[in-house]
Amino acid sequence: MFKRVLLSTVAAGLLIAAPPALAQAQDPLAPAGRWTLPERKQARTPPMGWSSWNAFRTEVDEEKVIGAAQKLVDSGLAKLGYVYVNVDDGWWLKRRTTDGRLEIRTKIFPSAAVPGRDSSFRPFTDRLHAMGLKAGIYTDIGRNACSQAYDLHSPNLPEGTTAEREVGLYGHVDQDIGLYFREWGFDYIKVDACGINVYAPGSAVVRDNGYRPFAPLIEQGSINRTDIAGVRALYEKVAQALEKTNPDGDYVFSLCTWGSADVRSWGKEVGNMWRTSADITPNWTRMLHNFDTAATRELYAKPGAWNDPDMLFIGHGDFDANHLTEARSHFALWAIINAPLLIGYDLRNAPQSLLDIWGNADIVAVNQDPAGHQGVIAYDSDDVQIIVKTLADGRKAVALFNRGLAPAKIDLTAAHLKFADSAPVRLRDLWDKSTTAFTGEKSFALEPRQTLIFTAEGQRRLPDGIYLSEIPGDLNVAVDGAATLEQDPMVHRMIGQWNGTRDTGERPYYAGWGGARADATPYGQTLQIAGRQFDTGIGILARSRVEIRNTGGHARFETLVGVDDSTRNLKDKVEFRVYGDGQLLAKSTPMGFGEAARPLSADVRGKKIIEIVTATVGRTSDLPLVVTWANAALR
Ligand code: GLA
Repeated sequence: MFKRVLLSTVAAGLLIAAPPALAQAQDPLAPAGRWTLPERKQARTPPMGWSSWNAFRTEVDEEKVIGAAQKLVDSGLAKLGYVYVNVDDGWWLKRRTTDGRLEIRTKIFPSAAVPGRDSSFRPFTDRLHAMGLKAGIYTDIGRNACSQAYDLHSPNLPEGTTAEREVGLYGHVDQDIGLYFREWGFDYIKVDACGINVYAPGSAVVRDNGYRPFAPLIEQGSINRTDIAGVRALYEKVAQALEKTNPDGDYVFSLCTWGSADVRSWGKEVGNMWRTSADITPNWTRMLHNFDTAATRELYAKPGAWNDPDMLFIGHGDFDANHLTEARSHFALWAIINAPLLIGYDLRNAPQSLLDIWGNADIVAVNQDPAGHQGVIAYDSDDVQIIVKTLADGRKAVALFNRGLAPAKIDLTAAHLKFADSAPVRLRDLWDKSTTAFTGEKSFALEPRQTLIFTAEGQRRLPDGIYLSEIPGDLNVAVDGAATLEQDPMVHRMIGQWNGTRDTGERPYYAGWGGARADATPYGQTLQIAGRQFDTGIGILARSRVEIRNTGGHARFETLVGVDDSTRNLKDKVEFRVYGDGQLLAKSTPMGFGEAARPLSADVRGKKIIEIVTATVGRTSDLPLVVTWANAALR
């Protein structure tokens, strides 16, 4: 792997290239000749189900969870795919210090009290399994969980001595994973990260509650002070334990580092889903923020590995039954960007109007489309967005989103859909099921905060092939070229509130700014080479490598290449290379800023994995060099 270099301001000026021998030994740009992500059995489409957290926080109990499970079955939601029933924080009593075994708070999970034996979730998971559902559990990568810092009033906090209250995975990975999966029969695990984040030596929470301090690996607010490799190593250890414990591969691994530690770049290599942002709250602006952190990472999700903007908050606050426009928008947006759909509401008392939202089979089908291509932003502004997702059968799904508080007009063009503008486009409204057709373009009037969502059929603009930006699920950004970490400013309401107005307020700390994008540059600009704009292509930094599955068995790869006009590095030159199953098929001459786009094409007949690589020729500047694979397509 390309080693990401964390620069402190002092070290920044001293960065030099690795010595040649070393660079060669681990050349990150060498073709792999294969798809390097693990082939995962589970989560081939985004996981769906219910979680206790947004409904009950730590006031979770067995009756509430089984009530939700029963409602999933009775309402037909389970049949639509909502099968994971996840217990979040609040279930534990303590860790027994004699042998390290975790004990369940049987007062709230009575079926876990097995007479004469250790407490066990087996009766509970058996019950869920008998209902045709799957069971999820929650833990933390550190010694202590989030509730132990943030829910101090809760009656359901772990009890006992300092050691007994250390219920997280740290130092117990194999034991706990074995307990959860082998002994208790869970199918899904969410691993939170407060234990490596908020229990700093000398902090008030440690002092006041007698916890063992943990020097933070994740430092909120500073990506530069976060130990990315250290965080990743801990999660990798869990991944290995999961693999060992579940030889049949029947598990889902959910990483919950809230977008920190650059997880938005490496999450796909370790787990099935990774949170891209801080916690969602039932507020419109927070929902926008969470949405943006995942919507701009379209090239990093694919079958088995999903961006997670957090669980649904439909039913609460700005998304309650009195705000159905907002609730529907929240749902349609999560659906089209392939977010996991985890309901966070007390389903026992759910009004029909909300059940109808989660139960919209057409929108669920968009989310669960087997090709797994995340929706791509086809038009972007502060006020309105158009998001387009390619479906397995060649149709598109499109969401028209009014982010603001005023009515908005959105002109949908055939070009947004990558359809020919001379042929009719047929639309089906997935809310009211009406159909309509247009040629060229059509205007829509949107209410404040409304999202319209359609499936669309038309004649493809590229009749004999597919643009790479249409198939993010078949792309793996193996090396994205980001040599230094940059915090992502392009998220809505980047300055948030977590703790009232007493502290300095939250700032985004996600990193990933400069990551690869479909139909945009890594910094959100329009693709443009030497003054010529392109509405499709892959925008990426130089020194990058992308693996492409030739799913359609295409014969040619065609593109126009060049240094993007938005680059900050105006000096260095870049060579564009195309490989098929590890073999060099085509390359450009070295190209620099201002040179007109040049065609590059390769015969990829019979090739399973195509790799597109950009290498710099010489290196005189550390500034990011933005390159564009314009109109890149398999034909
Ligand atoms: C963190 C997570 C939430 C939830 C709580 C539980 O905040 O991000 O999703 O699991 O912890 O305490």
